[in-house]
Amino acid sequence: MSKITAAITAIGGYVPETKLTNFDLEKLVDTNDEWITSRTGIKERRILREPGKATSDMAVAAVNELLKKRGISAEEIDLLIVATITGDLVFPSCANIVCDKIGAKNAWGFDLAAACSGFLYALDTGAKFIESGKHKKVVVCGFDKMSAIIDYTDRNTCIIFGDGGGAVLLEPNEEGYGIIDSILKSDGSGREFLHQKAGGSLKPPTHETIDAREHYVYQEGKTVFKYATTNMADVSTQIMERNNLTPDDVDYLLAHQANKRIIDYTAEKMNLAPEKVLMNIEKYGNTTSGTLPLLFWDFEKQFKKGDNLILATFGGGFTWGSIYIKWAYNS
Ligand code: UT7
Repeated sequence: MSKITAAITAIGGYVPETKLTNFDLEKLVDTNDEWITSRTGIKERRILREPGKATSDMAVAAVNELLKKRGISAEEIDLLIVATITGDLVFPSCANIVCDKIGAKNAWGFDLAAACSGFLYALDTGAKFIESGKHKKVVVCGFDKMSAIIDYTDRNTCIIFGDGGGAVLLEPNEEGYGIIDSILKSDGSGREFLHQKAGGSLKPPTHETIDAREHYVYQEGKTVFKYATTNMADVSTQIMERNNLTPDDVDYLLAHQANKRIIDYTAEKMNLAPEKVLMNIEKYGNTTSGTLPLLFWDFEKQFKKGDNLILATFGGGFTWGSIYIKWAYNS
């Protein structure tokens, strides 16, 4: 019997309608469009403003789109994973809520928190349930409502992040298409450079933590930038080498959209031509767990069956990694 691989067979995505442009941010903090564009590549991001709407609502829209495209019902889903650090509630998981809202009555599910590498980790995790033969249909979502934890008086962070994400369906493939290889890494000693200080069991919410603005993202950008460039480039070149892929063999790089300069550095180390490097950072900013599925959603139409895709991420933890996919269909 031929080996089973996990192939992406459908994609859905969602971004809120409200745009927060660099010019809007100029009115909130001491910054300007020229600085943000040249330092990050971001022009605008999307913000989920509607009261009562949360991460699960964005994921529901994306999963419903994916089910419609594939022509299947929610009841056929075996497992649904949500990569997120901004679930609707501390518990239960966002995956539980999404399954309820879409009517995935036969699925089990869980959240996976690995900050900006969340979707990459979740994709590899979901793939294992397909490869083992245990499940036939696994949905992997990557979504964050970063505006819920961003301090719009802090110019170090508020210029970067936005809301949104996407979802993919994984199904078994016996022709060698799908997820071929992965390298996943973490180093928790990096947590001091990118984290949320309060709200967890270390520092539960109090009036003091709120007054000290400790429920927002804290980032030492320069340090994170340094680790991100080195580690994302290392892991992406490593996955090429061990799969005997030359730069000509790689069709597209889908890298975490945190900063255009980090992506450019990674692509340069991989020796990739600029047209192979997919980017949508200018319109969505950094959506944390959402960036990779949003790239799939935006660029799906240009992928051809057999294309070699390299995914790469770096984020809080630190967490980072790379996945090699042989694309499974023409859309
Ligand atoms: O997704 C998870 C992982 N996160 C990342 O990968 C993000 C990694 N870090 C970054 O992308 C970048 O470090 C930032 C975009 C956050 C910052 O860019 P930078 O080029 O590292 O800027 P910097 O912090 O070194 O600041 C350079 C200068 C400073 O001024 P002086 O000291 O040179 O006079 C800052 O005060 O720019 C100033 N500055 C700003 N100016 C206008 C910092 N933030 C801003 C701002 N607008 N928003």
